[in-house]
Amino acid sequence: MAYNLLKGKKGIIFGALNDKSIAWKVALKAHEEGAQFVLTNTPVALRMGELNELGKACNAPIIPADATSFEDIERLFKDSMEALGGKVDFILHSIGMSPNVRKGLSYDDINYSYFQKTLDISAVSLHKILQVARKMDAINTWGSVVALSYVAAQRTLYGYNDMADAKALLESIARSFGYIYGRDKKVRVNTISQSPTLTTAGSGIRGFDNIVDFSDRTSPLGNANADECADYCITLFSDLTRKVTMQNLFHDGGFSSMGMSYRAMSQYNKSFDCDKDDEIPKEW
Ligand SMILES: NC(=O)c1ccc[n+]([C@@H]2O[C@H](COP(=O)([O-])OP(=O)(O)OC[C@H]3O[C@@H](n4cnc5c(N)ncnc54)[C@H](O)[C@@H]3O)[C@@H](O)[C@H]2O)c1
Repeated sequence: MAYNLLKGKKGIIFGALNDKSIAWKVALKAHEEGAQFVLTNTPVALRMGELNELGKACNAPIIPADATSFEDIERLFKDSMEALGGKVDFILHSIGMSPNVRKGLSYDDINYSYFQKTLDISAVSLHKILQVARKMDAINTWGSVVALSYVAAQRTLYGYNDMADAKALLESIARSFGYIYGRDKKVRVNTISQSPTLTTAGSGIRGFDNIVDFSDRTSPLGNANADECADYCITLFSDLTRKVTMQNLFHDGGFSSMGMSYRAMSQYNKSFDCDKDDEIPKEW
């Protein structure tokens, strides 16, 4: 059911790759709620061709941009404001990638040039987007910027690797820039810390199915899926949350406040059939 929450609002949505992507779901809901927006992703992602389908469904222009490139972001804002006929009201940063995760390197044996790339793509890109937007005065007063994070920014979840550090930086950038942009232009900046979700980026994490299962058993409300995450993003883009800024907002069915649940404990108890002192494999 649509509520017209974004009627008359314009935006830029980063990170829709395929119909599993959280950004894909956000785009569909933003369209339903009356927004006009530009879709953007890297030239490589655009070559896969799936984004055209979403562009058609949402009547949204597609503009390529590598979010690590200052020049690409400048061009993106210029072209988006032309295409949309003015400044934007909301931005979704739904971008993440770790070459260390992709190559299967363990956290205690990462490659530092890959680590830089992880940070640049998954966190510093938010700073660049905000810096360019502010310099070009590209976001309307009371605009809203949302980036997607994960609880591993604050608590260790094995297997999440250097993405945990990237998410910690991302959340910090949202606070630091949120102060400046809020003070000067009343633009709010928040991160949503989402449950593990079966997407292309998510599935790259080692042991991801187990993380999904553990989170689901631990969370009183169960894991939040991508559609539910999209609903939450829409509320943050809407005028109903105008005084929410500089927050990391957990959207995880209660996982982040739990220690152990009955469901997770029951499953854990079954493991006593195995040897508790099994050696931890090196790659973990
Ligand atoms: N899937 C999960 O379990 C989960 C949980 C919490 C948070 N998140 C976060 O949600 C966001 C979206 O991920 P997703 O799960 O929808 O996966 P996804 O793979 O569909 O999206 C990741 C996107 O990042 C884009 N990207 C990579 N490098 C880029 C660059 N240099 N410039 C611009 N875009 C680039 C990819 O093309 C892709 O569209 C990410 O920040 C991810 O870390 C995901």
